[in-house]
Amino acid sequence: MYRFKVLFLQAILIAGALSSLFSGSASELICGECDLNINCCSKWHQCGRSDEHCREENCIKGRCYPKCNSTTLSVSDIVTEKFWNKIAPYLPLQCDNIGFYTRDVFLAAADSYLEFASSCSNDVRKREIAAYFAHAVQETSSFCYINQINQSTFCEASEEYPCNPNKKYFGRGPLQLRWNYNYIVAGEALGFDGMNNPEAVARDAELSFKASFWTWMYRGVHSTFTHASKGFGETIRIITQGNECDGSNTAKMNDRVKYYKKNCNLFRVDPGDDLTC
Ligand SMILES: *[C@@H]1O[C@H](CO)[C@@H](O)[C@H](O)[C@H]1NC(C)=O
Ligand SMILES: *[C@@H]1O[C@H](CO)[C@@H](O)[C@H](O)[C@H]1NC(C)=O
Repeated sequence: MYRFKVLFLQAILIAGALSSLFSGSASELICGECDLNINCCSKWHQCGRSDEHCREENCIKGRCYPKCNSTTLSVSDIVTEKFWNKIAPYLPLQCDNIGFYTRDVFLAAADSYLEFASSCSNDVRKREIAAYFAHAVQETSSFCYINQINQSTFCEASEEYPCNPNKKYFGRGPLQLRWNYNYIVAGEALGFDGMNNPEAVARDAELSFKASFWTWMYRGVHSTFTHASKGFGETIRIITQGNECDGSNTAKMNDRVKYYKKNCNLFRVDPGDDLTC
């Protein structure tokens, strides 16, 4: 977080210096260089894609979150207590999750990721939430697991993304954040030390949900699914990095589709087209 702020201040200073050269204003220059297909330009003329940049009251251009009216259901209207109890039903005692993943914590984390299910269309909102829970249920066996069973190191070290040799970067949380580079980038976005403290995701339930929303946004599931109107099959391709597509693991892919359809049915929404990959 801190590093981003420093970089941003540097960007302002550089932009300011350039603008005095070219006699344009610094603000025009900053938003002018912003790729508005993926970012938001805020009323402070800052370019970025965080909630602060994109929420309706702050955003002036780009991928602003839409301004919905009172007919739009909130995430908590859709993810009711009843729904929650259906997707995470009976937890056998050997589950990691005894009181870890709860609806309240899910909703608190969603509150800090306003982009999640931000469409003004209730149908699109419901489909996005149905898709999120289809993957989470598949990845965690109905919210049983916090930590991946295969506890290999999952390290692919590079200069930019090193590994701590005493740490393991196996999957953790609802969408199983995995690999050193994902922990490092997610940690910068969420304010934890992903390289030295990957376990944070398994210790703090709210952080585990935030990490799952980070995956959802950063890996483009949200935008592909809701802005580009691709079907559920595309979300499988992204989440599994193609490992269940094109015949590689059709049984697992079909499980995800089954959960998705079940959730859509509970939300009373049509699942749409292109469900497989
Ligand atoms: C509210 O927003 C929805 C989705 O954008 C739209 O279909 C509907 O007509 C709007 N209703 C009112 C009362 O403005
Ligand atoms: C665990 O994951 C690693 C890394 O993907 C893989 O090489 C290994 O085969 C897996 N082990 C088992 C038992 O599935």
